[in-house]
Amino acid sequence: MDRLTVNSPAKLNLVLDVLSKRLDGYHELRTIFERISLADQITLTCNKSKKITIRCLHPHVPKGPGNLVYKAAMLLAEDFSIFDGLDINIIKNIPVAAGLAGGSSNAAAVLSGLNQLWQIGLKPAQLVNYAARLGSDVAFFLYDTPYALGTGRGEIIKPLKTRAKLWHVLVTPRVKMFTPEVFARLKLNLTNKKDNVNILLPFLRKGDMLRLAGALSNDLEPAILSLRPDFIYIKKKLLDAGALGVCFSGSGPSVFALAESQKHAFGIRAQFDKRYTQVFVISTL
Ligand code: C5P
Repeated sequence: MDRLTVNSPAKLNLVLDVLSKRLDGYHELRTIFERISLADQITLTCNKSKKITIRCLHPHVPKGPGNLVYKAAMLLAEDFSIFDGLDINIIKNIPVAAGLAGGSSNAAAVLSGLNQLWQIGLKPAQLVNYAARLGSDVAFFLYDTPYALGTGRGEIIKPLKTRAKLWHVLVTPRVKMFTPEVFARLKLNLTNKKDNVNILLPFLRKGDMLRLAGALSNDLEPAILSLRPDFIYIKKKLLDAGALGVCFSGSGPSVFALAESQKHAFGIRAQFDKRYTQVFVISTL
């Protein structure tokens, strides 16, 4: 086998509690990840060029060592002395720097794809170790689960048993937001100290949509809004359009709505002007 195509889905955070600032500069989190149907496609092709080449038509995707997929491939190539050459082709559907972990998901797809293609034989726990070295959000995508609890920096993953299928409208302003900048603006003394994970989980398990909608929360919201106060209008507009609940994902600026059904989600989407935002109807994957 010298070629492999893999799906690389995005995530939402149904809850994102920031507990404290750590000595290593990162923040201690408790988050519920949801894997969603919005996805990139990655094709890995072995060749004899002795180089790692990234191809992607999206102008904002780095084509060199700045891309996490390059770092992922280099880590494995160096550790397992594989110097043949690799072409990584990315079909980018997930908005970049948008709180959806597209780059992290791509890195996870490359780690597990190369494990097969290069026949390295890494066990799941070993792949998770590589993921944690690449970024806080990478590990989640190595688990075949629609939902997971993330703790630590977000890299300690516990898959959740629930199989609920949610429908969302995802609104992403055509603006990039950089995670370190958002965390730097967070005022930890002002975050609420409720255990939002355990408040939300029973509603997710029971499929209690109304209470689930009310329990969505993200401690980074004030930091995101301090950078772009106008983005509050997206939440308001989604609610006015009939969303059950709305929330920022990750470090923003994407906002997602919880809808009752696919039909309801399409009805909400129809009310958005696509000039300033990208609007998607998505579901749990
Ligand atoms: O781990 P990752 O490289 O994705 O993190 C990007 C940046 O986001 C970090 O450099 C840090 O500024 C911030 N971050 C954080 N706490 C986390 C995750 C990310 O402060 N748990």
